Amino acid sequence: MTDDTQLHDILIKRIAAAGRITFASFMEACLYEPGLGYYTSPGRKVGAEGDFYTSISVHAAFGRVIARETAQMWRCLGSPATFTLVECGAGNGRLACDIMDYLAEREPEMYAGLDLVLVEREPSLQAAQAELLARHRERLRWLPPEIFGTDGFSFSGCLYSNELIDALPVHRVVMTPEGLREIYVTLRDGGFAEEMGALSTPAIAAYLERIKVTLLPGQQAEVNLAAPEWLAAAARSLQRGFVLTIDYGYPAEELYAPQRKQGTLLCYYRHQVEDDPYVRLGRQDITSHVDFTSLMRRGEELGLEPVWFGEQCRFLLSAGIVEEIEESERSTASEKEKLKVRLALKKLIMPEGGMGDTFRVLIQARGVESPRLLCQRRIGG
Ligand SMILES: C[S@@+](CC[C@H](N)C(=O)[O-])C[C@H]1O[C@@H](n2cnc3c(N)ncnc32)[C@H](O)[C@@H]1O
Repeated sequence: MTDDTQLHDILIKRIAAAGRITFASFMEACLYEPGLGYYTSPGRKVGAEGDFYTSISVHAAFGRVIARETAQMWRCLGSPATFTLVECGAGNGRLACDIMDYLAEREPEMYAGLDLVLVEREPSLQAAQAELLARHRERLRWLPPEIFGTDGFSFSGCLYSNELIDALPVHRVVMTPEGLREIYVTLRDGGFAEEMGALSTPAIAAYLERIKVTLLPGQQAEVNLAAPEWLAAAARSLQRGFVLTIDYGYPAEELYAPQRKQGTLLCYYRHQVEDDPYVRLGRQDITSHVDFTSLMRRGEELGLEPVWFGEQCRFLLSAGIVEEIEESERSTASEKEKLKVRLALKKLIMPEGGMGDTFRVLIQARGVESPRLLCQRRIGG
């Protein structure tokens, strides 16, 4: 039996027993069913060999620019003797490694007091992270996701994530003449089918009310209840410092705009965008765009002030990507390698067909008076 059919059978049994399940439960199983989900099955690969690229797999300059900004955050906190960097959804540890390499080289004083904490839902990735980060072993520790946000963990410093929020399971809703309804997954003729029903939790309507969104008749949308819950856990753990979130998405008024009638749910399989979540179970990624307005509003309720929000290209340009790329070019001998570096820069910042404008960066802070971050500088200034 392949993993695909094993997960299929588990889901069929689960749905038969319950009659129907929310799309969020279905997506949760497709991505995270132990040993069988997209992120929890052995041998999963992100990047050129996997199903999608993230900015991290494009070039180390991405991580090095984030490192520059975390060093600025450390200065904003008064260059404390210890500073904690927490990465949630650390994957194979590549981003953490690029950040730590930069800080070890360029910010020895900060590096000497650094505490790097990796939080990753899939525990088997720890081996890859340990190998990649071997030279930073003394600074590194791991935290199980269930301890994150509890009394067992608190820190001052910066919590960052790249493409974590888009990988959290979402509820799907549709506006009908009877009002807002939820899309459930049920069984029909032995296969998966969708049906509409009453909202599974009042939290869905409350979520849309908080951001003042009313869908038009026929409009479908995703509601990521896990995102504000994750932020609440982050806020419980963060004593003083910053939350830096990078992901693809929009402010709510763009994400839930009438022209986006079908929502933003997408599947990725071998670098192709697919739209059927009911096939290749556990072998294709399922994601939806992030609603940054909800993260900002919920953050304010939790005492996290929004400091900066904008496109990834603006963040990277004002925080120093050009300097990083130039340096990388200087240390590269061959013309072919130089070209590769320039193409990486283009991919990271180009709006059209690149990662520059669909990707956004949100920085929130607690307990930092008027922080002056690199990304707040004028580009070229
Ligand atoms: C799309 S991948 C991104 C990986 C990496 N940050 C990158 O950009 O290549 C999302 C990762 O988040 C992890 N994840 C999902 N929910 C999590 C949670 N609540 N806490 C920690 N990690 C989580 C998944 O297991 C997966 O490795």
